[in-house]
Amino acid sequence: MKKKKLKLKKINFFIFLIIIFFIVFFLTLLLLSITNNKSKKITKTVVEKKDNLDSKLKKLDYINKKINYFDNSKIDRYINYKKKNKNISNKQVVIDVNIGLDFPYYENINEAINKNTNIILVNKYYFLDENYVPKNLEKLSLDHAQEGMMLVKDAKNAFEEMASDAEKENLNIIVLSSYRSYSYQVNLYNKYKKKDGIKEADLYSGRPGHSEHQTGLAIDVYDGELDYTNFEKTLEFEWMMKNAHKYGFILRFPKNKEKETGYIYESWHYRYVGKHLANILYKNNYTLEEYYATKKKISN
Ligand code: DAL
Ligand code: ZN
Repeated sequence: MKKKKLKLKKINFFIFLIIIFFIVFFLTLLLLSITNNKSKKITKTVVEKKDNLDSKLKKLDYINKKINYFDNSKIDRYINYKKKNKNISNKQVVIDVNIGLDFPYYENINEAINKNTNIILVNKYYFLDENYVPKNLEKLSLDHAQEGMMLVKDAKNAFEEMASDAEKENLNIIVLSSYRSYSYQVNLYNKYKKKDGIKEADLYSGRPGHSEHQTGLAIDVYDGELDYTNFEKTLEFEWMMKNAHKYGFILRFPKNKEKETGYIYESWHYRYVGKHLANILYKNNYTLEEYYATKKKISN
């Protein structure tokens, strides 16, 4: 009896061992398969990442050779912008992103480029702080300007020469807005915002710090008769379109460049940039934004 019991115990123990063996065996198999899958996944993502990088670099090399203002540090922005705007050419993608257009206006803003020079860039991406007052501001003569108008010396001289030459052809070009301080722009913009709402006001008025009237290089003109918003209908406008660049002025917010400048067409707003740059912009039909976006490197 005792012997039988002992035998039975041995058998049970043996079965127990077999069960344990199988449990351990299957658990090991399970564990192995999990770790194997994981490492496969890791290798796959590493290869994918490398492929992505390779194609990015190939693309970069290809575009770089064709577009010399391609900025390597903006490659991800170019790619994202292209993804969202498949119909835009690579060249236009680079220009748009260099302008900053992959961000909404007034986002990703920087301090104005080339402060206190005639080629300063102020727009919806480049700002002047509230203390910026241009050097060499001078009052305009009342011959071709309303009372109290001021411009930077170079711009003043160029404007007065231009207006005198136009006068010789019986044309009347009068400045009705010129240098505006930061605080002046605060009041003006708030007035427009109250009248038309932010969305509408942003189409025609710079927010404080973002109006190039603060540079002392911008003017709004009229012919002394029609409201300035009708300047386009005057002979003076026609004359300005043919001649302004010869004196260093550009039409700052032209038709069909609303996306680039961020503003609706303003036939009355001119910007002094100096003769050299005005000629380049005139010949290439470029805005100031496009000029900077196609320069090899933007420097602050
Ligand atoms: N009207 C132009 C855009 C300005 O306010 O600066
Ligand atoms: Zn203006």
